[in-house]
Amino acid sequence: MLAIRRFVAKRSYSFVTTPIFYVNAAPHVGHVYSAVLADALHRWHRIQGKSPAIFSTGTDEHGLKVQHAAASQNMDPQLFCDDVSRLFKKLFNAYDVSYNDYVRTTERRHVECVEYFWNRLAANGWLYKDSYEGWYSVSDETFVGKSQVTQFDDEHGNQCMVSTETGNVVEWTKEENYMFRLSHFKEQLLSWLNCHSAAVYPSVYATEVKEFVSNGLADLSVSRQSSRLQWGIPVPNDPSQMIYVWLDALVNYLTVAGYPHNNFHWPPTHHIVGKDIVKFHAIYWPAFLMAVGLDPPKRVVVHAHWTRDTLKMSKSRGNVVDPFDNLRHWGSDVIRYYLLKDGSLHRDSDYCDDRIASSLNGDLADSLGNLLQRCTAPSLNPSQSVPPLPDVDRMTREDKTVMDAMNRLCALFL
Ligand code: ME8
Ligand code: MG
Repeated sequence: MLAIRRFVAKRSYSFVTTPIFYVNAAPHVGHVYSAVLADALHRWHRIQGKSPAIFSTGTDEHGLKVQHAAASQNMDPQLFCDDVSRLFKKLFNAYDVSYNDYVRTTERRHVECVEYFWNRLAANGWLYKDSYEGWYSVSDETFVGKSQVTQFDDEHGNQCMVSTETGNVVEWTKEENYMFRLSHFKEQLLSWLNCHSAAVYPSVYATEVKEFVSNGLADLSVSRQSSRLQWGIPVPNDPSQMIYVWLDALVNYLTVAGYPHNNFHWPPTHHIVGKDIVKFHAIYWPAFLMAVGLDPPKRVVVHAHWTRDTLKMSKSRGNVVDPFDNLRHWGSDVIRYYLLKDGSLHRDSDYCDDRIASSLNGDLADSLGNLLQRCTAPSLNPSQSVPPLPDVDRMTREDKTVMDAMNRLCALFL
């Protein structure tokens, strides 16, 4: 480790984030994947000597989805959130996720940050009140365009409308809301995406985002009537409205950064997100930031999904793998290794116990385990120490080849 640090040491900081997860239900393996991917990147940054190296995760606790989940359990929403948030934290600790901040949207520091951010948007003239109507998906906590919904017959033969993208039910909503002037940010977003070719990574997702933005952006509703949504952060000076849960949630990254206090760390270097939430991180979020004069994130890293029998694993669908069961059976190192090996940014991966067994036996025990055993054998390394790396001008050709290969490998992964 020390040898690598000396070779690649850089002074710059790193700020890696996972999404903050909804507490509507218990966590599953998909959430562990995002956290382990972000953890691997954060550990690599620490080895490189980046400082500070911030790594945050946490829970998204407001909104209709959580309000409904708490009500269905007959529970006070705050107590409900406390329970599930504790479970996510326990899970990430059990999987050795080395986060150094765990943010909850019901925390005072976050609520204050959101209120400040809202006031900045309002003071800069980016908000206005209007009557708004459209299809709303509670499960996705988003409005869905008219061309993005299809009719569906449920198992009882009832007709309903669903989002074409996610298959989740949508309902027609008409209310007075605050709107954000998203339409004004089309050119600014395109120039950010074009000037920073890896701002959304891998490029396949950047292409989709650019196409979406190029087609024009409608203004975005950023509040809900308090009569419908009680579990949220009230709009400052207008308690008849609650702040839209996605605006609330995205600001978590600023809360972690210490905004708006002096010397807050900005922007994040890597937002790790699933492909289901690209639009929020690569369009809404940079636009919100531009609106208050802050830099957009350096990179939004998007990963594909874990499936079960080719269907996306999801809390709402219920086809999930329980990560606590897994841990008892395999241990955290095995699952971490399997997720990083078989998971992919580009293509969905089907979760498979046989593949875990073959990764454990073939890679961890056999190839890598043997290699480690041999490298650290007392006959080969009597002092049982890591040999110091020679200065670059004294390196042999083999040394350089190995170091170049390592740097290329890490550059490939971001
Ligand atoms: O969207 N495979 O929270 P969420 C891989 N609160 N990753 C998966 C996955 C799967 N099958 N299912 C979920 C939200 N994930 C918002 C985020 S951020 C400001 C607010 C991971 O609980 C993946 O990272 O629905 C995905 O983007 C995220 O969990 C969605 O978690
Ligand atoms: Mg979700």
